[in-house]
Amino acid sequence: MTTTLLTNIGELTTNVERDGDPCGTLHDAAVLIEGDRIGWVGSGAEADDVVARLARSDTGTPVVDAGGRAVIPGFVDSHTHLVFGGDRADEFEARMTGTPYAAGGIRRTVAATRAATDDELRARLAGFVTELHRQGTTTFEIKTGYGLTVADEERLARLAAEVTAEVTFLGAHVVPVEYAERRDAYVDLVCDEMLRACAPHSRWVDVFCERGAFTAAESRRILAAGVAHGLEPRVHGNQLGHGEGVSLAVAMGAASVDHCTYLDDDDVTALAGSDTVATLLPGVEFSTRQPYPDARRLIDAGVTVALASDCNPGSSFTSSMPLMVALAVREMGMTPSEAVWAATAGGARALRRDDVGALAPGMHADLVLLDAPTRVHLAYRPGVPLVRTVWAGGVQV
Ligand code: NIG
Ligand code: FE
Repeated sequence: MTTTLLTNIGELTTNVERDGDPCGTLHDAAVLIEGDRIGWVGSGAEADDVVARLARSDTGTPVVDAGGRAVIPGFVDSHTHLVFGGDRADEFEARMTGTPYAAGGIRRTVAATRAATDDELRARLAGFVTELHRQGTTTFEIKTGYGLTVADEERLARLAAEVTAEVTFLGAHVVPVEYAERRDAYVDLVCDEMLRACAPHSRWVDVFCERGAFTAAESRRILAAGVAHGLEPRVHGNQLGHGEGVSLAVAMGAASVDHCTYLDDDDVTALAGSDTVATLLPGVEFSTRQPYPDARRLIDAGVTVALASDCNPGSSFTSSMPLMVALAVREMGMTPSEAVWAATAGGARALRRDDVGALAPGMHADLVLLDAPTRVHLAYRPGVPLVRTVWAGGVQV
């Protein structure tokens, strides 16, 4: 088993709540990585002792001197759509001069994805994984949804499963053009043959519950079919206008409802009284010029909030969790600590994972050493590459 000792950490975000601080902040801290897990975490004199003891025993444990910099848990990006062909830079360009975002653009990516070979999609995906690691993301979810035939959805789920355990079946992304006049037949296909093909590669079932995509009744049926196939539900809802996505997610016990841009008081109350996380995706509002969701309102009501990138070629072509943190602070009323928590522990909650998103003995050794003295700098210095070193499962990536 390989061990690594990180010493001289100026500020360590553990996300193990301590004295009312959800970030469980430690100063002058050290972390021992043992294999793919965290072996020990501590600070002050206790850390000095462990460091001195390891030095005396001369086990050859590599020591990384953090130089007083900050360390945080690896980002947990609980919402991406990373298996696709082509891009839609032309739509982005048009949006920036006033053309509104329309979910119909999804069909263009469906055409490009169907035309791509497995190896092309796999190579693109490998590039995205490198991109995620470089920016400090060590756990990520990937959705299907750009195939929309049984064979294409199956291959997207299969390719996603090659790089993550968090695969989401999103056959109900939009109704594909060939079913435009027969939407019931498409919902039947999703609930039956498509789910049977995709469930073996997937953990989650998702649906885009929104005007222009799927109605609440269709969404309920699709999620229930997914649950019957052993998948756990999550929902895209309340992105483009107020709708039933949030209430449906809460009623179905979904792990998360994502977007949450347009909420009424009942939605907020329902979320606050549930185990459903509100996952906010500020990259979407950034690149569609829509209003940002009100994170402050949700947090003040007691809702658990996560931040994710929604990386996809249409509404948010960024995989940068540091950017999400900066936007959440600048535009959504979150404090820097709340935003960093939401991008790490919050993402873990949204994926119902208790082995990532925090730094404590037994957790995955997923850590980010920042080129900054505190986590606040992630929001304070937007656009600056502050991710210095990343360990995923104890291995430097
Ligand atoms: O989460 N909202 C639905 N799906 C994606 C957008 C996909 C696209 O435009 O290609 C989203 O924003
Ligand atoms: Fe999405």
